[in-house]
Amino acid sequence: MIGVFDSGSGGLSVLKEIVRLLPDEKYVYLADNAHCPYGEKSPEYIADRCREITRILMSKGADIIVVACNTATAAAINTIRKEFDIKFIGMEPAVKPAALGTRTGVIGVLATAGTLKGSKYLASKSNFEDGCRIVEHVGEGFVELVEAGKLSGPEAEAVVGRSLTPLLDTGADTIVLGCTHYPFLLPTMQTVAKGYAVVRFIDPAPAVARHLVYVMVQEGLLGERQATKALATVVATEEARAMGQELPPVPAPDIELIATGNPAGLKALFKTVFRK
Ligand code: DGL
Repeated sequence: MIGVFDSGSGGLSVLKEIVRLLPDEKYVYLADNAHCPYGEKSPEYIADRCREITRILMSKGADIIVVACNTATAAAINTIRKEFDIKFIGMEPAVKPAALGTRTGVIGVLATAGTLKGSKYLASKSNFEDGCRIVEHVGEGFVELVEAGKLSGPEAEAVVGRSLTPLLDTGADTIVLGCTHYPFLLPTMQTVAKGYAVVRFIDPAPAVARHLVYVMVQEGLLGERQATKALATVVATEEARAMGQELPPVPAPDIELIATGNPAGLKALFKTVFRK
């Protein structure tokens, strides 16, 4: 069973890409929405939450855990990797594909304050900032919008515009989505970015899902037939993405959804992410 967690519903953007590759697996997803947002909280606080969540997911039968939260990955994945006898897959800030693909030589990174301070992000930034300019902005209020299910409309556009426009104004043509909540605001971001020269948004979720498949194969957690099927889906999906084709809808998996707070928002977003 694959365990997935986030501070809230944002990790569903990662779960979707995982289920696309592994539709027959069993899942347990935990939204720690009683303690959301994590963005400004201390690494110690987040590590405590991650410990508690790991215990819950393991008690439900998870044999691998995806930390579908950039902030939790930055604050605590090294700690929980030392403390628990289970594999954790974390989020990677997608600076590399952005830096390699920019034409203007400026890339923007939208993430939480915690992620932007994390050593993983700072290391990947320093690897690429010789070749391009990297500008950053916290997505102020983005997590709250997604948790409230306000993904579009004038309020969402105003909130998104306040953090995205300063990045676009620097000439950034590629924006890294460094928080798993943000892909849910992509249509709104595209509306805000209208009028700017071609802007590409990079979501690391498909790469994280591919990495999970490789690790599960290595760990003996995936049978040969499922692994072959997943790799065939990777090829087909990447081809479709490269050609700008719409991807097929992802059917709802066999899943237990857990929220530490009110589950209504999580359940509502889940229904929009997965085909019935
Ligand atoms: N979805 C989150 C992330 O990827 C958490 C954001 C938050 O709780 O502030 O960072």
